[in-house]
Amino acid sequence: MTYAIVYSSRTGNTEMLARAIKEALPQGDCIYFGGPDAKALEADIIYLGFWTDKGSCDESCAEFLKSLSEQKLFLFGTAGFGGAPVYFSQILERVKANLGPGATVTGSFMCQGKMPMSVKERYMQMEDSPRRSAMLANFDAALSHPDAEDLARLRAAVAQAK
Ligand SMILES: Cc1cc2nc3c(=O)[nH]c(=O)nc-3n(C[C@H](O)[C@H](O)[C@H](O)COP(=O)(O)O)c2cc1C
Repeated sequence: MTYAIVYSSRTGNTEMLARAIKEALPQGDCIYFGGPDAKALEADIIYLGFWTDKGSCDESCAEFLKSLSEQKLFLFGTAGFGGAPVYFSQILERVKANLGPGATVTGSFMCQGKMPMSVKERYMQMEDSPRRSAMLANFDAALSHPDAEDLARLRAAVAQAK
């Protein structure tokens, strides 16, 4: 079964996930690895990776999802906020809303991804409040992600979806 890994990654977190999926799957069956591109549409299954932008996938992934028709799809993504599983579920639902009719989602995975230091600097300039403290704590918690455990859980999700 052929596959394509299509991903968008500004700072490398989602790319780490994309590379882990590629390493876990048979190399000879990969027909495309890279940014959103119509070349990927020929694959039997598409692994689509996104970084979270305003609570959904980034625009390039949204456009790509709209172009799908009858493909099988595994969704994976990273988000700066990661405390609650329900947060990831909400993002995934918004991402799926972009899907063309007929495409089937075989599985999905999300984990937290570190954010640039400029985000922390912005938080630091805010007036002290419980919300600011929570955002700073989340920023620090994100710094180590994606980690080895995230990648192991990703590989397990990919194996289960096949
Ligand atoms: C412009 C911008 C918007 C973002 N919006 C969100 C958001 O709405 N929710 C969230 O959890 N993380 C948000 N993030 C954090 C990124 O989704 C997160 O750091 C992700 O792991 C980046 O992935 P990448 O390294 O593959 O680009 C945002 C980051 C940027 C730069």
